[in-house]
Amino acid sequence: MILSGKARLAGVIGWPISHSKSPRLHGYWLEALGIDGAYLPLAIEPENFETALKGLMYSGFGGVNVTVPHKEAALAFCDEVDPLAKRIGAVNTIVFKHGRSHGSNTDAFGFIENLRQGAESLDFFAAKTVVLGAGGASRGVIVALQDAGVKNIILVNRTRERAEVLAADLSSGADGMITVADWEDRNDVLNGCDLLVNTTSLGMAGQPPLELSLDKLPKSCVVTDVVYAPLITPLLGLAEKRGNKIVDGLGMLLHQARPGFEAWFGVKPVVTEDLRKFVLEG
Ligand code: ATR
Repeated sequence: MILSGKARLAGVIGWPISHSKSPRLHGYWLEALGIDGAYLPLAIEPENFETALKGLMYSGFGGVNVTVPHKEAALAFCDEVDPLAKRIGAVNTIVFKHGRSHGSNTDAFGFIENLRQGAESLDFFAAKTVVLGAGGASRGVIVALQDAGVKNIILVNRTRERAEVLAADLSSGADGMITVADWEDRNDVLNGCDLLVNTTSLGMAGQPPLELSLDKLPKSCVVTDVVYAPLITPLLGLAEKRGNKIVDGLGMLLHQARPGFEAWFGVKPVVTEDLRKFVLEG
């Protein structure tokens, strides 16, 4: 696409940023929809975060996505932050308007949309859910599950204390009850589980494998992983082999991008099989 002088601009801020799939993802939509606009990878060091954001705002950017390690700094930076992003404690989408910055978090939306598309019959209200991991990704997932109506969440993390802090933090004012279990008991808590979510980095390319026995996991349980490199993690591969419904993590990335794209470029984009293939090829 050749840009005009009126081209709309957005991008993704991270450090590093070269691994990010977001420019390819937004670029696909811009091209497919024939939009006069660009979405750029922006490598910004943490100490330059605020200066860079102000610079982008005054340069006429519509806004940016924010990724590691800037999501908490983005929350502190924004003039207005939506309540969901405050609950999660991180901002991943910023919209600039009239010299002010509005922060939101679309990771929870992306997680749920991906599950709704990939496991249509899942009844969130009745789903006993096990969440592995209590890091940054886990916060978005738990808030998403609570808002989708999940009442019973079992949170398992290697560092129990971190899970307890997160559970205490996210329990107040929300319906979904969070029970903390020990990492050593992770195989046992799978008994009777309807939804299993891995939010740890285990199983990601270059990381150690997730050691988990699925012997007690019902065959009816839906299994999903926020890791999408590899697309079929060892956990998803094992679950699929024994007949569980699996939902890979790529869809979360694709769906979380939708609200930002609409805000910056003015068109609602859709997640299609072609888009998935295109993003995976890059
Ligand atoms: P992210 O933002 O991707 O969630 P993070 O905040 O660093 O990244 O969290 C990583 C998660 O993977 C944590 O739940 C972490 O467990 P700890 O809280 O005990 O660190 C989990 N994790 C990473 N390496 C692990 C390992 N070798 N065994 C078990 N859990 C691990």
